[in-house]
Amino acid sequence: MDEYGAVRKILHWLVAILVVGQIGLGAELAYAPPADNALTGQLYGVHQGLGATILVLMLLRLVLRLILGVPVPPRGVPRFAEWLAGLNHRLLYLLLIAQPIIGYLRNGAAGHDWSIFGYYTIPSIIAKNAVLADALKEAHEAVGAALIVLILLHLLGAFYHGVIRRDGVVQRMA
Ligand code: HEM
Ligand code: HEM
Repeated sequence: MDEYGAVRKILHWLVAILVVGQIGLGAELAYAPPADNALTGQLYGVHQGLGATILVLMLLRLVLRLILGVPVPPRGVPRFAEWLAGLNHRLLYLLLIAQPIIGYLRNGAAGHDWSIFGYYTIPSIIAKNAVLADALKEAHEAVGAALIVLILLHLLGAFYHGVIRRDGVVQRMA
């Protein structure tokens, strides 16, 4: 197999757009005025709902990847670059699945349930705990920063394949 199907391509670009928006929104929330501000409340609602959407889409992608596998790398790519790309993709999966769960737990430790666009609420599984909420806030921030680094490395990889090697790898996700 040397191609991704249409469904996986659509999922890739949909998640890419949502994740960039989600990181921007998260950063805005972290520096926004206190939560009693109505706009902050709404942005926070969107952040929770988008987090759930990204989680569901990533789990779907994981199932597709486990069933269908990944395309073979083109000939001539150095072994270490191939290994680095594989690691980059695996870590993106891991962190994009972990991050909404950390957000949910962080939210729970702060005494809130997980509201999915106001239509559905997932109750917290942990009791309110200020110390844990602080630790999970740090974890959510650290994973957010790690995601930014992974995405930048991913873009570097796309540049390497698309501009330097011109080997058709970028086209197979287009
Ligand atoms: C893939 C999904 C998610 C991504 C990529 C993401 C990313 C981020 C980022 C980058 C920040 C800014 C952190 C900082 O600089 O302090 C943030 C803040 C925040 N996120 Fe998320 N997030 C996701 C899902 C969620 C979910 C599902 C929840 C809650 C149910 C949540 C709750 C929060 C809260 C409360 C903040 C405000 C700042 C704080 O107190 O930590 N996040 N998010
Ligand atoms: C910005 C957020 C992005 C995220 C979170 C992301 C995430 C991912 C993930 C997880 C994979 C692995 C898919 C799999 O094998 O199951 C992947 C593959 C890929 N991505 Fe992205 N991506 C992003 C942006 C981009 C951009 C902007 C480009 C191109 C300019 C790009 C080009 C590709 C290509 C070509 C592949 C396939 C590589 C191969 O065939 O081995 N991605 N991406």
